[in-house]
Amino acid sequence: MTNGKGSPNSIGLPNPLRLQIIYCVDDQRMNTFECIISKVEVREFIKKEVGSEIKQRILESARQTGSGLNLQHWRFILVEDERNLSQLGLDSTSGRWIVGADFAIIILTNPTLRFHLIDAGRVAQNMQLTAWNEGVGSGLFTGIKEDKLRNDFKIPKDLTPSIILGFGYPLKPSTGKKKNRLPLNQLVYREEYGSTSE
Ligand SMILES: Cc1cc2nc3c(=O)[nH]c(=O)nc-3n(C[C@H](O)[C@H](O)[C@H](O)COP(=O)(O)O)c2cc1C
Repeated sequence: MTNGKGSPNSIGLPNPLRLQIIYCVDDQRMNTFECIISKVEVREFIKKEVGSEIKQRILESARQTGSGLNLQHWRFILVEDERNLSQLGLDSTSGRWIVGADFAIIILTNPTLRFHLIDAGRVAQNMQLTAWNEGVGSGLFTGIKEDKLRNDFKIPKDLTPSIILGFGYPLKPSTGKKKNRLPLNQLVYREEYGSTSE
């Protein structure tokens, strides 16, 4: 099995669209598809504050996300204080990079709902795409020292910290061209599992 690494045509995009993506991330607003294609995880940020309007848009995109049975059980902790960002880093096992972010959002969900992690993933992705649409990069982590995190951020027992997102302007520009993704012909079957899609 190959991993599609470094293969610019692994997702089969026509060339004019690829050029447009590069152009869009340099300067202009993207459409949804371009936003998805060009988005990568960002874990290194420059020291530049993200404006409150953009933060508001990111949170609004969370609010507008659909959840299972429309229960909207999620809650969000916005972390902007530098000391609290450092604390988040210390409370993490796989997201120490969060200390360099401009701000973070802790996504809390109700673990008694069997679909709560699906809801967490959807709301995280919507916030990340909204941020990227504004040129703001983001990364997520899931590895946490739960007891410490709960204690430091006063998280109630009935909610689980499912995902933590860090946001900021990226240190390095990215077009998403170097993403390591499997090609579609290794992912998609026609009508039944195992049948070729070609
Ligand atoms: C469910 C899930 C858990 C993840 N956990 C972490 C994590 O703990 N720490 C981290 O730095 N990145 C984490 N990531 C980010 C992945 O590493 C990233 O999506 C993947 O490497 C692709 O990155 P790219 O879009 O930049 O190519 C997680 C992503 C998902 C979807």
